[in-house]
Amino acid sequence: MRISMQKIAVCVSGGGTNLQAIIDAVHSGKIHNTQIAVVISNKADAYALERANNAGIPALCISPKEYENRSAFGEAMVALHKYNIDLVVLAGYLVIVPSEMIAAYPNKIINIHPSLIPAHCGMGYYGLKVHESVLACGNKITGATVHFVDEKADHGPIILQKAVEVKNGDTPEILQRRVMEQAEWNILPEAIDLIGAGKVSVQNGIAVVSR
Ligand code: GRF
Repeated sequence: MRISMQKIAVCVSGGGTNLQAIIDAVHSGKIHNTQIAVVISNKADAYALERANNAGIPALCISPKEYENRSAFGEAMVALHKYNIDLVVLAGYLVIVPSEMIAAYPNKIINIHPSLIPAHCGMGYYGLKVHESVLACGNKITGATVHFVDEKADHGPIILQKAVEVKNGDTPEILQRRVMEQAEWNILPEAIDLIGAGKVSVQNGIAVVSR
C-alpha cells in the first residue's frame, strides 16, 4: 500500500474531458492519495490547458515542433523528472511517446483508448476515426481500454476495459460521447486509483488487477 502521495502528470492534446474526469475524481475522493503535479500538452491552444489552469494545476506546452528532432523532444518530456512523477497519464494525447520517455517510465505510462483493444486501434485510430470504424464494422458493442504504454501504439498490457452498447442510428459523434460518458471517464480515474494503491502489477506481459 503506498504511503506517500502518488504524483501524476497528465498529457493532453484537445478538449481535456478525460483530464476533467481525473480532476473531478481527485476532488471527490474517487481517486485517493493522488496529486496532479503537472499537465502537459503538445498544443498551446488545447482547452485542456485551460481546464488545468482553472484547477490551479501547472500547465505546460511541450510541442515536438519546437525541437529539432525526436530525441530532443524526448529529453524535454523526460524533464518531467523535476516533478517527481510516479505515473504519466495520456488522456487524449495524440503524440507518439518518445522512446526516451518509455525507457524512463517503464510500466508507468498509461493511455485511454476509445475502443476495446485490440479492435479498432493502432496507427491512425484516434478520436472520431475509432467510432467511424466501429460503425462501419457493424459492431454491437464497443467501449474503452486503459493500458500501459509500450513502444507500439495502443499495444501495452491492458489494465481495465468497459463495454458500451452501440445503438441503432448512432453517429460517430453520438457513439464517442456515450463511450466517454459510460466508459472513459470512469475507467481512467479507476485505473489511476488502483495503480496508486499498488493494486496493479504486470506478470508475463499481462496486467493483473487485485481489487
Ligand atoms: C477522446 O475520443 C478520447 O477517447 C481520446 O481522445 C479524445 C479526446 O479526449 N483518448 P479528451 O476530451 O481530450 O480527454
